[in-house]
Amino acid sequence: MDRKINIAIDGPSASGKSTIAKRLCRELGYKHLDTGAMYRCVALKVSRTGINYKDKAAMKQLLDNIDIDFTPRGKVLLDGEDVSSAIRTNEISMLASDVSTQLAVRQHLVKLQQEMSKNKGYVMDGRDIGTVVLPDAEVKIFMTASAETRAQRRYLENKERGIKSNLRALKQEIIERDYQDTHRTHSPLKKADDAIEIDTSDMTIVQVTDEILKIVESKL
Ligand code: DC
Repeated sequence: MDRKINIAIDGPSASGKSTIAKRLCRELGYKHLDTGAMYRCVALKVSRTGINYKDKAAMKQLLDNIDIDFTPRGKVLLDGEDVSSAIRTNEISMLASDVSTQLAVRQHLVKLQQEMSKNKGYVMDGRDIGTVVLPDAEVKIFMTASAETRAQRRYLENKERGIKSNLRALKQEIIERDYQDTHRTHSPLKKADDAIEIDTSDMTIVQVTDEILKIVESKL
């Protein structure tokens, strides 16, 4: 397969976007861009510096001085430090959703995302990829799953990583974040008109990957 395309995957929290994106990249030899990790980096920096994310001047200063990068093996670097685990706490998940409501944050990160994926061959996952970041992506997927299933998946994922969590609290956090991400003023989470919706509630990772690979093949 010589010709490369871009694949946009959007959907609510913990719907399996990153897991599927990584598998697609392995199958296709594409690069993965986890845009949620970038909002999480901004949130971590806000939390560490103690500024108010609604303070426009302070946020401008923060964004002018932030360096977000990914290693070839998928580690997330914030100002050169590996923060791959530090950005995955519940507190940072919620704060990432909070900072993502701010227009200046979105504009800054969307620009970076578009620069990073100037060439084809990307699988990018987030909330506004098919609608704003890559409106011309050849394949757009909108991935959903019930809140129950998503909480259960996150719970098991945490368990595997040795992180203790509470299923009810996880479900609550997912519901709150869904609400905020779909109701914000700037680029709320919504399915692009030309996106294909896949409800993964009763599907395995292999089934979802295969379904998307079929869609990709039909475009190549
Ligand atoms: O995908 P995630 O759970 O790691 O994303 C964390 C938060 O970042 C999410 O609740 C909303 C925000 N986000 C966004 O607004 N736009 C994106 N493209 C990706 C994430």
